[in-house]
Amino acid sequence: MNVMTEISVERISKSRLTSVDFNNLGFGTYLSDHMLVADYREGKWNQPAIVPFGELPMTPAILALHYGQSIFEGMKAFKNKQGEIVIFRIQRHHQRLNRSLERMCMPAISEEMFTESLAAIVATDAKWVPTSEGSALYLRPVVFATESRLGVKISDEYKFVVLTSPVGPYFSKPVRVKVESHYVRAAEGGTGFAKCAGNYGGAFYPTQLAKQEGFDQIIWTDACDHQYIDESGAMNIMFVLNGKLVTPQLTSAILDGVTRDSILTLADDLGMPKEARKISVAELKAGFEKGTLTEAFGVGTAAVVSTIATINIGGKDYSLPPDSSSSFQQRVKKRLHDIRMGHEPDKYNWNFHVPVK
Ligand code: COI
Repeated sequence: MNVMTEISVERISKSRLTSVDFNNLGFGTYLSDHMLVADYREGKWNQPAIVPFGELPMTPAILALHYGQSIFEGMKAFKNKQGEIVIFRIQRHHQRLNRSLERMCMPAISEEMFTESLAAIVATDAKWVPTSEGSALYLRPVVFATESRLGVKISDEYKFVVLTSPVGPYFSKPVRVKVESHYVRAAEGGTGFAKCAGNYGGAFYPTQLAKQEGFDQIIWTDACDHQYIDESGAMNIMFVLNGKLVTPQLTSAILDGVTRDSILTLADDLGMPKEARKISVAELKAGFEKGTLTEAFGVGTAAVVSTIATINIGGKDYSLPPDSSSSFQQRVKKRLHDIRMGHEPDKYNWNFHVPVK
């Protein structure tokens, strides 16, 4: 079945594109004209359709609202130097989507349906892909339980929706983060590796407390005794320690970030030794004290590569040396950008080219 040729498009009567301030996009402020919607009923996904962005008819009894069966992805589309639109690493995002769906007892989506749905919505709102430095069209596929019922059960009905949003950089300046030593994001065996809504909702309260203390984000630590670094919630975390790129190894409590994987791959191309392993808070502290911890940065689809300026450990601020264009994080960020924009060969086949009529 060729899904895309059958995806119907109901166009908006008046585009909202003229109301967008492309010089001041922020993150997730603007939603593009259209959205893609597909329903799962009686054991199968029905044909997706593209409609004007807007409200969806549903009752307040949908199971997603009560018991949290809701997962999402975060992806980006870019306009490259040839003027083509590319979606970054669609296949890897699809694989992670299905791992999240499986963990939350939700029905899988085929690679064909996922790819063609994303290509169709991006082609429909192609004019919304921004072109300024650091901007992209953020793609937000979300799947949630729509069966209307109060009993605690696995839903028999779901919606798959894809929203798109022209975005600028997630953080406008280097961030100040705090190593969390009380609250927990995820424990091994839980849902930390899945991109499920509850992981984000549960992080709000501790993050709000951290923001009141002047931090931008939390660095989450392991749920047993807060000795090892996990991730940062909206991004994975990486360090340059003793001249090597180091990042926490994946566990069931850490999101398998697509940008994380891309940077680990590009480290080889840039001749940077790398290690994915357990990193203790004590090791970071020693690295600061000895001057061997030279870079820290968050990585994610939204965050891309976000410089960390300060890490607070046990109530004490430790500052990283100022970032420079020769740092590993800047070199790898440039390489990633150049691959997406067509300035460098796409040797890993990461760019999916969207056919636009
Ligand atoms: C992403 O990087 O796409 C994320 O999901 C992080 C955040 C915006 C929820």
